[in-house]
Amino acid sequence: MNASAVRPIETAVDANQKAVHSDMISPRFYTTDFAEMNRLSVEPVRAEWDKMMAEYEGDNNHDHFQRDEAFAAEMSAGMASLSPEMRQEFLDFLVSSLTSEFSGCVLYNEIRKNVSNPDIKQLMTYLARDESRHAGFINLSLRDFDLGIDLGNLKRTKKYTFFKPKYIYYATYLSEKIGYARYITIFRQLEKHPEKRFHPIFRWFERWCNDEFRHGESFALIMRANPHLLRGANTYWIRFFLLAVYATMYVRDHTRPMLHEAMGLESGEYDYQVFRITTAITQQVFPVALDTDNPAFRRGLERLFAISQAMEKAKARGGIIGRLQQGVCAVQALGTFGRLYFMPVIRQQISPQVRMEPAW
Ligand SMILES: [Fe+2]
Ligand SMILES: [Fe+2]
Repeated sequence: MNASAVRPIETAVDANQKAVHSDMISPRFYTTDFAEMNRLSVEPVRAEWDKMMAEYEGDNNHDHFQRDEAFAAEMSAGMASLSPEMRQEFLDFLVSSLTSEFSGCVLYNEIRKNVSNPDIKQLMTYLARDESRHAGFINLSLRDFDLGIDLGNLKRTKKYTFFKPKYIYYATYLSEKIGYARYITIFRQLEKHPEKRFHPIFRWFERWCNDEFRHGESFALIMRANPHLLRGANTYWIRFFLLAVYATMYVRDHTRPMLHEAMGLESGEYDYQVFRITTAITQQVFPVALDTDNPAFRRGLERLFAISQAMEKAKARGGIIGRLQQGVCAVQALGTFGRLYFMPVIRQQISPQVRMEPAW
């Protein structure tokens, strides 16, 4: 059995299993309470909302997700330069990126089908349109290696997690904004070092991440229109989601350190840059931010990663000892997460203006 956290993806069956599989760090599928979403109002931000809807309607990326002539040759040359381990990390990256794009697509589509609130229905139509393009575009790159994911099957067989609407707003807002920060950080790095761009898909990231940025703006408007979501006891939920999203990303990225190295980035440095961008953006909604540059916070994340590695080893070992070790790891992870959660946070003044520009 393979003890490393990244399971090898050699066949389409492996790729599809990887996408369906659920664990602590893999992207999940969600469902929610549609009746409650029907009662949502965006009236307090009507002018900004309508402007945003017009942007979606204008669809400035409608022609973006098509390959150009240079794609195939660039792809072959780039992939030939990768070691087998690095190739595995890249395939893992493609599968997990596709799963999270498609997770958005499925959730937004479910909401669209099940709500009658016209504002929410219209928004979800646009979001699902964009995410389905994103997922489809990544799937083309997996098909180049005969590793295409059967999205219909994934939708039917993957486990769904129920989240109350407010958790959906916090979690999707963050994952859209962090998605933006991740893609733009990679794009800027490869813009400076085109020799490190080992796959053409990264050339698409700039306009792509503007979609993600705008998706995040939609949830920012929803939350600002309903300010009780951003006050009182809810700030503890915001802290929880911030930490859960940041910690998951940190652990997932550190299980594939070569991917970032190949781009001339170090996983830790890359993640902290992504956190800084995300934190700056969250001033539009969240009254609190995590102190990600605090050395104690960083030690906590390092420990979470070490525990997740030990957990993988324990799983690979199996048997009673393996199971006991997994139990110990789970307790340790919970303790570390708890300590990180109760670290002092940074209070921030919510910006008067909701909308922001993707200026990174
Ligand atoms: Fe997306
Ligand atoms: Fe998105």
